[in-house]
Amino acid sequence: MLHAPLSSVHRNSASPSPSLPRLSTPSLCPSSPSCVRPTCLRSRHVLSFSVSPKTHLRAKSKSVGLKVNCSAGEPLKVMISGAPASGKGTQCELIVKKFGLVHISTGDLLRAEVSAGTDIGNKAKEFMNAGKLVPDEIVTAMVTARLSLPDAQEKGWLLDGYPRSYAQAQSLEERKIRPDIYIVLDVPDEILIDRCVGRRLDPVTGKIYHIKNFPPETEEIKARLVTRPDDTEEKVKSRLEIYKQNAQAILSTYLSVMNKIDGNRPKDVVFSEVDSLLSRVQNDKAKTTKLENTVYGISLPSNWATKKEGKWRGIPTRLNNIPHSREIRTYFYDDVLQATQRAIYDGKTRLKVEINIPELNPDVYRIGTLMELVRVIALSFADDGKRVKVCVQGSMGEGALAGMPLQLAGTRKILEFMDWGDHGALGTFVKIGSIGAKEVDEQDDIFILVAPQNAVGNCIIDDLRGMTESAGMRPVILINPRLKDLPGSSGIMQTMGRDKRLEYAASFENCYFFRLLYFAGTQYPIMGALRMSYPYPYELYKRVDQPSKKEEYILLSTFDGRPSIDEVNDAFIGKPRNQVKNTSGIWGFLSSILQ
Ligand code: AP5
Repeated sequence: MLHAPLSSVHRNSASPSPSLPRLSTPSLCPSSPSCVRPTCLRSRHVLSFSVSPKTHLRAKSKSVGLKVNCSAGEPLKVMISGAPASGKGTQCELIVKKFGLVHISTGDLLRAEVSAGTDIGNKAKEFMNAGKLVPDEIVTAMVTARLSLPDAQEKGWLLDGYPRSYAQAQSLEERKIRPDIYIVLDVPDEILIDRCVGRRLDPVTGKIYHIKNFPPETEEIKARLVTRPDDTEEKVKSRLEIYKQNAQAILSTYLSVMNKIDGNRPKDVVFSEVDSLLSRVQNDKAKTTKLENTVYGISLPSNWATKKEGKWRGIPTRLNNIPHSREIRTYFYDDVLQATQRAIYDGKTRLKVEINIPELNPDVYRIGTLMELVRVIALSFADDGKRVKVCVQGSMGEGALAGMPLQLAGTRKILEFMDWGDHGALGTFVKIGSIGAKEVDEQDDIFILVAPQNAVGNCIIDDLRGMTESAGMRPVILINPRLKDLPGSSGIMQTMGRDKRLEYAASFENCYFFRLLYFAGTQYPIMGALRMSYPYPYELYKRVDQPSKKEEYILLSTFDGRPSIDEVNDAFIGKPRNQVKNTSGIWGFLSSILQ
């Protein structure tokens, strides 16, 4: 069966609907009648128009039986982005094979229209051949129509080459179309130009070759290869320029789900990273659906974790203004809460929150902010019917050696007098306790330990350890623990129980981390920020002053684990990760605290 391009579908539709034009439906895999194959609209176009070589590739990849691997829950929604020739099409082919998503490539859709000589194609052609973007309204109509088809809804989608401008991203936002993950393939400019100029397409199979990197297998194939009209060096440079102009603006929309991947490696290596990312997101989604109401009875709606992270809108600005506004505080409470819930929902039981916004820096320390944060977390679990014990260490040691950290003095009283809502949560679902094994009651479900730390001359570790042992598999959350060495009254560092403390602290997993970055030894100006919100990677941001006197945080890089100082510095000066590090430089950011 031949399929008409989108524009002709519009024209021929008996009852055209502005929101959902009649387009193609999923087809059955010829090799297995029971295998419903997600179908790329553009692939189907291409079957009728032989001049669209790349389209053939994608059509062909679908004619081989696909391994459809979608979770039982909501299907995956993926966006892939990157400069021209960064390898999007190449990776999409592999993703489709593995994950069975419906591949929607705007470049392919447009080339099919051009090949078919439709009105849309004729309009698009001049822009494409000049290496420019086709007007938004044309592309957006095509994409949103395609996304709304049942196969994309059921199998999930892989959007390639869209959005390509801020306006396009906003069009999707307005329709509440958001990806679970936004992959950016990162490849240096000179490599991109070489890849484009050397790209060749097989009009028969649709396979993408490269004269050097992936030469054709036979002389016969070589003889029939064609070059894309926009693959000249001059046009590639124009496309690259346009990509760069738009990339940052689009990124701001998808920061919270963005994952940058080094695309300058063999395609299989790139794919193994893409594969593990998508598998993780897919597992998260499946777990969220499957395990609902099963981990400590915390009920979360389907796909809760991803949706919540999707609402995140970047680092708030004006963080050096103290006291912080209520909006800023609420922002962080919410951010920490979501990460903590996701981690507990995933079955994690030993968790650590480290949040170092200026109000919680030791010099400024507003205990009220810490208490509010604790209340937000405790009440959210209490709302879910859990019995939460909020624990503040009491006085440690005896007689003349008794003591407690200055920062925590009066904390317990404040907690007791705080407003815990009108429903009598305090005393029933929320209890205030101390730190120690005997504080663990049978009915307690979750423990929140408020800034556990050593007092001069006293080490908290034994009480902490005793408490967590008694808690067993029940979650224990440490909020801003300070288990590092303290200077004693003599000025000598107190190292009592050091090994035990560090080993113990390491047994807790960070579910949230936030720290502002400054030049070493200063608290001004803010250079950037490091954030991690479970289960997502560490994100490194650079603070940038805007001409309008506003500031903005721009994502520089992501890291699977907490980055070292060298990694942070390298990211700030734009050095690739695998390059040998400089031994000196002005970029002395945070030191020991990042370790
Ligand atoms: P489109 O087709 O989307 O082009 P593009 O974004 O420029 O991307 P390419 O298709 O050129 O490259 P690719 O990243 O898919 O790389 P590939 O895998 O082929 O769009 C074309 C035009 O349509 C646009 O210019 C615009 O006019 C218009 N358009 C599209 N979307 C639009 C929108 N949303 N709004 C407005 N206009 C729009 O690989 C490239 C080469 O590198 C190949 O030879 C391949 O073999 C090789 N290669 C791939 N991976 C590797 C690797 N890992 N190592 C070595 N070589 C590799």
